Amino acid sequence: MEERRSTEVGRTAAAVAEAERWTAHNYHPLPVVIADADGAWVTDVDGRRYLDCLAGYSALNFGHRHPALVDAARKQLEKVTLTSRAFLHDQFAPFCRDLAELSNMDMTLPMNTGAEAVETAIKVARKWGYKVKGVPDGQATIVVAANNFHGRTTTIISFSTDPDARADFGPYTPGFRIVEYGDLDAMRAAIDETTVAVLIEPIQGEAGVLVPPPGYLPGVRALCTETNVLFLADEIQSGLGRTGDTFACDHEGVVPDMYILGKALGGGVVPVSAVVSRSDVLGVLKPGEHGSTFGGNPLACAVGIAVVDLLRTGEYQERARELGAVLHEGLQSLIGRGVTAVRGRGLWAGVDIDPSLMTGRQACERLMANGVLAKDTHGSTIRLAPPLVVSEEDIPFGLAQLAEVIGAS
Ligand SMILES: Cc1ncc(COP(=O)(O)O)c(C=O)c1O
Repeated sequence: MEERRSTEVGRTAAAVAEAERWTAHNYHPLPVVIADADGAWVTDVDGRRYLDCLAGYSALNFGHRHPALVDAARKQLEKVTLTSRAFLHDQFAPFCRDLAELSNMDMTLPMNTGAEAVETAIKVARKWGYKVKGVPDGQATIVVAANNFHGRTTTIISFSTDPDARADFGPYTPGFRIVEYGDLDAMRAAIDETTVAVLIEPIQGEAGVLVPPPGYLPGVRALCTETNVLFLADEIQSGLGRTGDTFACDHEGVVPDMYILGKALGGGVVPVSAVVSRSDVLGVLKPGEHGSTFGGNPLACAVGIAVVDLLRTGEYQERARELGAVLHEGLQSLIGRGVTAVRGRGLWAGVDIDPSLMTGRQACERLMANGVLAKDTHGSTIRLAPPLVVSEEDIPFGLAQLAEVIGAS
């Protein structure tokens, strides 16, 4: 037994060392090496099981290897996986239609990663500004929020306020104005006749699951309508069930001009992203102006169709609502006992650990030792976002581990 244990421990250590040697160090992963996964649980190369409370930053809303999604992928693998957009295929229109209908919009433009979808939104908004709004060529501005996270491309990091994401990667793309998140007056002041769009996350995930003050999203909607500016809602992390509704905007009855989607749209199986909008907005694009070899490929569309089917049932939104209430109640009870603040909605929480106790990273390392995988954001904040298929027993398990780690049990 002792011998077996040491071999197993060696397996993790060896895999960590090998990754360290052969990859760029652009991440700082926890030293866990996952070998397989099912639902809300993963197993490492040493056979240890962990409750996944990150869920691929919400890409795994439906859990690991959801049978309907794996089945859709498997069936499509037997047929056709890639055509390029030079030709149509039989999964393409159904996916674009199903997603547009789910979103109550006119049309879909599929891409692959979240950053590509954000880039798509920026390009569409600029072109809309020049061709529809009449902004002078090359003058378009887009208003964004401080502490945003919209991806890692050179244009997107140009309007990041996070030095780690931005420093040393210039020269930067111009045309963005940054205002405080939640401050409508600042947004109003930043909008002028050159402004084509406001781009915000309805809940800021990477910043620590920051929920804006009530009335902010409706205020942004009204301001955009009043000033003829597009409201681009980056729902890449907040959307598709996570908060207890299909979109985080739904909680305040807000309909943006465009949803930017990704992560869970690919069901944790393949990268699928998209922008979904009205025809008067997406209609500005003409052939040759935008595209992607893999965007809207048959495998992606087949999985995307199955994802939309799952969302249509409402079951996952309901789970996020109900189990989210249990999660938040449990987290609230830890305030003053090692936790200083909790934010979030549905099965999504930003938890501020008392910085005098430990950093977020240390909390995540200790949670890992207790069988829970989570991720810190900044300082002493950790994010909890389990798959929406998490069971009723899993939530108290996770909460108990957190309580133990912070000395509250
Ligand atoms: C709100 C938001 N937008 C965009 C992105 C970028 O997505 P991707 O990593 O797929 O490019 C992320 C990723 O975390 C995100 O949370």
